[in-house]
Parts: sequence; C-alpha cells; structure tokens
Amino acid sequence: MASHDHRPQLRRWAALLLAIVPLGLAIAGCTLHEFPQSSLHPQADYAWRIQHLLEQLTFWVVVIFALVQIAILYVVIRFRAKPGAPTPTPVHGHTGLEIAWTIAPAIILALVAVPTVITIFATQTTPVKGALHVRVVGHQWWWEFQYPDLGITTADEMHVPVKQPVYVDIESADVIHSFWFPSMGGKRDAIPSRVNHLAFVADSLGEFPGQCAELCGLSHANMRMRLMVETPEAFQTWVASQKSPPATPDSTSLAGQGKQVFETGVCITCHTIEGVSAGVIGPNLTHFGSRTTFAGSIFANNRENLGRWLTAPQDQKPGVVMNWKTLSVSLSPDQVNALIAYLQSLK
Ligand code: CUA
Repeated sequence: MASHDHRPQLRRWAALLLAIVPLGLAIAGCTLHEFPQSSLHPQADYAWRIQHLLEQLTFWVVVIFALVQIAILYVVIRFRAKPGAPTPTPVHGHTGLEIAWTIAPAIILALVAVPTVITIFATQTTPVKGALHVRVVGHQWWWEFQYPDLGITTADEMHVPVKQPVYVDIESADVIHSFWFPSMGGKRDAIPSRVNHLAFVADSLGEFPGQCAELCGLSHANMRMRLMVETPEAFQTWVASQKSPPATPDSTSLAGQGKQVFETGVCITCHTIEGVSAGVIGPNLTHFGSRTTFAGSIFANNRENLGRWLTAPQDQKPGVVMNWKTLSVSLSPDQVNALIAYLQSLK
C-alpha cells in the first residue's frame, strides 16, 4: 500500500533527473577543446570571410522580406473589397511601375553579387612567405598529409600551428574527393591529375573535425579527418617526433612479434613504416601510435577498435581495399594482438 503512494514522487524525481543529466552533459561538453563540425563556427580567416558574407546577405534578405511583407499588408488593407465599392479598373502599361520592377531586382542582385565576388577573389589567395606547405592527397577512403618542407608523411590527422598561414595543395590518388574543414573555410575538390590550392590561418587552438564533401564511393561517409591546431611549440614537438625514426621493439616482446607479423605478411605491400617497408597504397604507419584516430579518422585509436579492425577490416569500413576476404588473409587472434602492440608502439 505504502509503495503505491510513493509512485508520483518517484516519477517526479525521474523527470528531474532526465532534465538535469543531458544539461550536465551539455555543459561538460562545452569544456572540451573539440569543436563541432560546423561552417557556422568560423575559426580561420577564410571561414570568417564566408561568415561575414553570410551575415551581409542575411541582412539584405531580412530587409527585403520586411519591405515585401509591409507592401502586402498595405495593399491587402487599403484595397480590400468593401460593400458597394465599384469594380477596380485593370492597369495596362504603367511606365513608372515597369521601371521600378526592373531596377529593384537589379539592385538586389548587385547587393548579392558584389560582396560574393569580392569574397571569391579574397579567398583565392596565393602562398604568402613563411606559409606552412601541406600536400593533401585524397584516397578511397582516407586523407594523406605530406609536409614536403619537413619530410613528414602522415594520415587522417593534419597538424598546423595556430595563427600561421597554411598553404595546401589538394590532390587525389583515385577519384574526385573534396577537402573540407568547415571551421576553416570553404571546401575544395581533390581531383586526379590536378592540383587545387587552399590557404587559411587558423585562429584558435583545438581539434576540428572535417570530412570528404564529394560522393566518392561506398565509404564516402567514412572519409573523415581531424585538424589539430596547436601552439607553435606543440607543433614543433610534433614535427620532431614525426621526423624521428620509428620505434624498434625488442624482438622477444609482443610488439617485436607484431613487427615480424607485419614484415612477413601482406602489410608491407601497401604500408610504409620507415626502415621496414615502403608501400604507398595505404596510410603511412611510421608514427601510427601518435594518432588519436585511424581508418579515415572514423575510429578512436585504441586496443578494442584496432582488434576489430585487424580481425575483419571489411566489416568495419564497407569497400575498404584492406579486405581480408578478397586478399585471402586470415590473422590468428595472437597475430592480431601482436600487431596491435607493434602499431601502438609506433609513437
Ligand atoms: Cu572522398 Cu567522398
């Protein structure tokens, strides 16, 4: 009997919890340095230009909308049918009106076109002196990042220093992709046999998600990437670690056994680990352990995800080239564990 009386109170507590928990999570989320994948969240000069254009156009759209609504209201009230009113005379040819409805749209189009063209020219910048040069290559379905002046090749995660101009060459190894970090600015296509360019200066520290923005096959949606905008010091530390030779584990350790699995298996045909192999079909793995994500930045780089990936990559990413079925590869759980240890040791 007593428990029956407590039910409404319990329900009230449950409702309160349901309201508080998501709010708490939302507040906690705000403290993370990970930015949303949104073009309405500009964090670079290029993105700010687009934002300002959007604001300018929105202003004119609102002004025109308001004027049209006021005109409609005026006409509806002023010329509404009244009992006993005479039938209105139709208007044929009104020079003043015709001039007005020719000039007004021309002005509106100019208000849209002039700032748009200015923005287009302003975002087609050529490299400035001292810009960090990055070569981006789109692959089905992952991004390769090369730093030709620094001798670095990596994948999935692009690192740049904050407030330093970055000049990107955008290319493709297979089909048309599109390079897009919404917070940094516009997207630009990665086209085979062609080099496109994009320049930006990131103005905030943080991790920015991006992704391929051109339908490029089965795993188009799984072709993501991350931009790490770091302090100049942190960027230099990253550069130094990426330029250092890969870890060479003790041959008796689990990682050492993993290295052996790697060296004696199909891995070497597609992947590069400096001093170990020189494949160029898949991502360079020299410093794989230093990345936070893998496989087109769709999985967090941890034991569980690597285990699933190495056991059956074709089940994790539809259409992936590394398909154990078509390649007739089968790895034992021990081999998978050893490979995980080796990959994680490659800091
Ligand atoms: Cu690459 Cu879509």
